[in-house]
Amino acid sequence: MKTPNLPLLISLFYTFVIVVRSQKTVDITKFGAKPNADATQGLLGAWKEACAAKAPTTIVVPKGTFLLNAVKLMGPCKSPITIEVRGNFKAPPQVAQFKGQDTWVKFENIKGLTVNGVSGGGTFDGQGKSAWKQNDCAKLIYFHKNPNDLCCALQNFRFNFVTNSKVIGLTSKDSKIFHFALLGCKHLEMTDITITAPADSPNTDGIHIGRSEFIIIRGFTIGTGDDCVSFGDGAKSVIVENVTCGPGHGISVGSLGRYPNEEPVSNITVRHCTIKDTDNGVRVKTWHNSYPSSVDGLHFENITVENVRNPVIVDQEYCPYNHCKEKTPSKVKLSDIKFMNVKGASSGKEAVKLICSSGFPCDKVELADIDLKYTGNDGPAVSMCKFVKPSLVGTQNPPACDAPATPVVEL
Ligand SMILES: *[C@@H]1O[C@H](CO)[C@@H](O)[C@H](O)[C@H]1NC(C)=O
Ligand SMILES: *[C@@H]1O[C@H](CO)[C@@H](O)[C@H](O)[C@H]1NC(C)=O
Ligand SMILES: *[C@@H]1O[C@H](CO)[C@@H](O)[C@H](O)[C@H]1NC(C)=O
Repeated sequence: MKTPNLPLLISLFYTFVIVVRSQKTVDITKFGAKPNADATQGLLGAWKEACAAKAPTTIVVPKGTFLLNAVKLMGPCKSPITIEVRGNFKAPPQVAQFKGQDTWVKFENIKGLTVNGVSGGGTFDGQGKSAWKQNDCAKLIYFHKNPNDLCCALQNFRFNFVTNSKVIGLTSKDSKIFHFALLGCKHLEMTDITITAPADSPNTDGIHIGRSEFIIIRGFTIGTGDDCVSFGDGAKSVIVENVTCGPGHGISVGSLGRYPNEEPVSNITVRHCTIKDTDNGVRVKTWHNSYPSSVDGLHFENITVENVRNPVIVDQEYCPYNHCKEKTPSKVKLSDIKFMNVKGASSGKEAVKLICSSGFPCDKVELADIDLKYTGNDGPAVSMCKFVKPSLVGTQNPPACDAPATPVVEL
């Protein structure tokens, strides 16, 4: 038997001591935060200190419920920051209290951030109820010229240009509009996150991923009033796995092609997800009369649906509220789209709907091991195809492309 290498053990021990001692901790109570009171200045004060610190720093939010106004936690920071959230936060209920801010908690320009909900904490309650009532912004979003100029764009969380970072174990509740939105993020991993809002809360999308790459979304439980996960233009190399969605509108790529100069969407994998009590399962939607763009490489694998109206849907004739007067074909080119091992119960008869663009037919679409049962009593499930000839592998239930194509009805 070899004797232990004593000098090595001693040097490891000192390295350990140095690493532990250089982990600085800042508690938000140091800056005046108290449970059941406004913690805005407490969190901002702790952030300022942590961001300026030369050593990696942990901001601690202790147990308790804290009120929090809109905050912008901005970098660049000198060292990585961890926020350990043992307590819970509540937002002001009225939109007017946000004084024109677009987000409740915004992280921007940060490298090496970890946000960690621990010990039963980490709930961010957006208290969106009054906002849902006062703004019927659903229609306004569709008719607005400027997508940034939304009447009620007040999201629970926004991550702008956040890289090499992790978000773990948070709960986002009742946001006024989207729960999470990502823009310009790279190498961001989000795990074990719960998102809840009532099924009838408007535009409360779970997480929207725009112009970001190398993103992992894992182990989310999402029940909300709009898309559980949506991919906007410029979403690249994203993995979504082990996500449960419902109620909500499903997992959606798009809508795309509404604005000029949208970046392509590519290399998206959605696997091992369960979608329940939703309008859509996995969906791709692009506008009629669209600007040019492209989607290349979407892999949906091991998807289970239960009580879902459109389990598999590609809709390149998207035009809600019927406001497209001319119906020129979508100029968004879709290619390399795979639906593999999609199973379960469809509440709509048209369980598989592939409606591609007459101007830019879909390329390289594959249906593999599709097994969907229609739960209604007017005959078996059907499948329709328009401007697409999918390649078929394994089981096809319903038989692929066996029904005449009919327009998609937006509810
Ligand atoms: C999937 O996520 C759930 C809840 O988020 C978690 O409990 C479970 O362990 C995860 N399973 C796998 C295989 O990752
Ligand atoms: C596709 O995305 C995965 C997951 O992010 C990544 O590992 C892989 O490198 C990407 N492939 C390409 C060609 O970008
Ligand atoms: C999909 O499911 C099959 C069988 O149920 C399993 O063998 C495979 O590893 C799964 N793949 C993914 C990506 O979850």
